Amino acid sequence: MEECDSWEDMEASAPAVAPAPLSRLNANAPAFSFNPSAPSFNPSASSFIPFSPAAGIPSHNLQAQVPVIPVAASHTGLFIPDLSVPHGAAASGFGNAHAHEGPIATPMAVDSITESSQSTEAPVADSFGGKQSEQEEAGFEDSKEMSPETDLPDTDAKEHASASSESVNRPISGDKDAAELKFSTLNIKDESMHGKSSEVRSKPAEAIEENLDTRQHLNVVFIGHVDAGKSTIGGQILYLSNMVDDRTIQKYEREAKDKNRESWYMAYIMDTNEEERAKGITVEVGRAFFETKKTRFTILDAPGHKNYVPNMISGASQADVGVLVIAARKGEFETGFERGGQTREHAQLAKTLGVSKLLVVVNKMDDPSVQWSKERFDEIEKKIVPFLRSCGYNVKKDVQFLPISGLYGLNMKDRLPKSTCPWWDGPCLFEALDAVEVPERDPSGPFRMPLIDKYKDMGTVVMGKTESGSVRRGDNLIIMPNKARVKVVTIYRDADEVNYARPGENLRIRLAGVEEEEISPGFVLSSVNKPISAVLEFDAQLQILELLDHKAIFTAGYKAVLHIHSVVEECEITELLQQIDPKTKKAIKKRVLFVKSGAVVVVRIQVNALICVEKFEDFPQLGRFTLRDEGKTVAIGKVVKLPKASSQE
Ligand code: GTP
Ligand code: MG
Repeated sequence: MEECDSWEDMEASAPAVAPAPLSRLNANAPAFSFNPSAPSFNPSASSFIPFSPAAGIPSHNLQAQVPVIPVAASHTGLFIPDLSVPHGAAASGFGNAHAHEGPIATPMAVDSITESSQSTEAPVADSFGGKQSEQEEAGFEDSKEMSPETDLPDTDAKEHASASSESVNRPISGDKDAAELKFSTLNIKDESMHGKSSEVRSKPAEAIEENLDTRQHLNVVFIGHVDAGKSTIGGQILYLSNMVDDRTIQKYEREAKDKNRESWYMAYIMDTNEEERAKGITVEVGRAFFETKKTRFTILDAPGHKNYVPNMISGASQADVGVLVIAARKGEFETGFERGGQTREHAQLAKTLGVSKLLVVVNKMDDPSVQWSKERFDEIEKKIVPFLRSCGYNVKKDVQFLPISGLYGLNMKDRLPKSTCPWWDGPCLFEALDAVEVPERDPSGPFRMPLIDKYKDMGTVVMGKTESGSVRRGDNLIIMPNKARVKVVTIYRDADEVNYARPGENLRIRLAGVEEEEISPGFVLSSVNKPISAVLEFDAQLQILELLDHKAIFTAGYKAVLHIHSVVEECEITELLQQIDPKTKKAIKKRVLFVKSGAVVVVRIQVNALICVEKFEDFPQLGRFTLRDEGKTVAIGKVVKLPKASSQE
């Protein structure tokens, strides 16, 4: 079948992405109220805990304090997990990567997503039919064709996979001198709020520079089922990158042992708070930074547990490339991949959020039940490929499988020794990551930086990722939707203070002209001439996934939680405008009153307070979203039409 690249067709090219200090995207564990038992996400019940780093943090030490982010939600007081939707539209190819060749036919009962339902090109503009004029009357701009992938990921939750108990041997660290690699990273300490700390080495802030660094930068999100080994791999990367010293590792070993979690010591590098360490599960997205000669990387370690999918969404929304971690251990792959396992949900969500390239890392190859078995690796690859294709990944071009052992650091920085795995000739993880090419973004586009957090430090500092355009010290900008006019005083990229930053960077910007209290995460720092649209309603094309059993009918009045870039907002479907036939991709003429799981439908969505969005065709990363209900992702969508005069000035 044809690869379904419809999202990417609409995407502009994406550039590099700036790393940021090792941090928590949303140190919101206590506050970000994903209460799985709550019947629905209740924004009014959520609390915003203002971020209050110790007063007077010296700017050279910002990275050590800042990014632990209790992210407030937009103006409603809703709590937001975090950041900006990036753009995953990486150009083709993993370079010299060992690409998977061709489709592998695998009968998969649960994946029985038919081809016809997988690629849904829906000519919405044509298909508005009679509705079109009504919409125009209603003040909506013309929309263009939108085409979400059509897939039904499994969203039934699974219980936390059983904790594995491995014997702890110190991993093979490879060449710790890292001759080829120059690393700099920071980590976060925000003990004032959540008692988190980490001891990854910091890079001192450097003198102001004019962005002489021409390397590409890449945001990489680690996704996959709970306990697959994401944090262990993230920690191992930092260890192999010489950013965590032996003493720290030894300390973590002792701490992990004390908590009866011996084998988690590597994960402790990424899992920095007490709750995570005690339970052995990631809650908040961890962030770390490392670099090679060619690339600066931000790694985002998403939680695998079903309860924290919203946090995973926020992590994935910042990524250009995903590392889907699969545990090869007997039984673990099966649990993660079965209906309801997060392997599926994460892969689907990542695609929706713009992660178009995936490294599928088959981890725990060292496990006694696997022993670097080629058969097991092939079995997993064969089962996953059809599913990824159904999610819309171009498997030949954009997906690559690798066997590794995160715990022992094998096939990560150095290639596998033949004595360990005679059959693997492909690259190691670092090589594969370095081979990912990120296309340039247009630095001259209108400036857009969704804000994930803000704090006071000699003025107001905002954090986020630039999704479009560049920023220079001294620029006059506007914060939407509250239209606050601001001036750029200082720009921090990672640890560095810079005069200028390109699109795709994770930045902290000190602003003059606005009080910290006036800003909420979800707001967008924009160019004055072309500010982002701020709307109370918009039209979107939705791919309905699997609806809740007790809410199996999707109709006007349906309420859900909308996640779009750094916005999390309650929304209501006010009107079903048009149903699209997933097979023919044509609009169905008949008036639509309700739809069920699997439908593709154009709807009008309303929120209670102004939110900043863009049409998907203009800014894909600011125009694609997910709808979640009671902790499940029930639909993915694209903004197709905005009310006229939704932009300011
Ligand atoms: P969540 O964040 O909760 O989703 O889990 P995770 O994917 O981050 O997994 P984590 O890194 O916490 O590891 C879970 C367990 O798997 C720990 O006991 C690890 O030691 C173990 N583990 C991770 N990688 C490997 C590996 O390569 N080999 C073996 N044998 N065990 C591993
Ligand atoms: Mg983890």
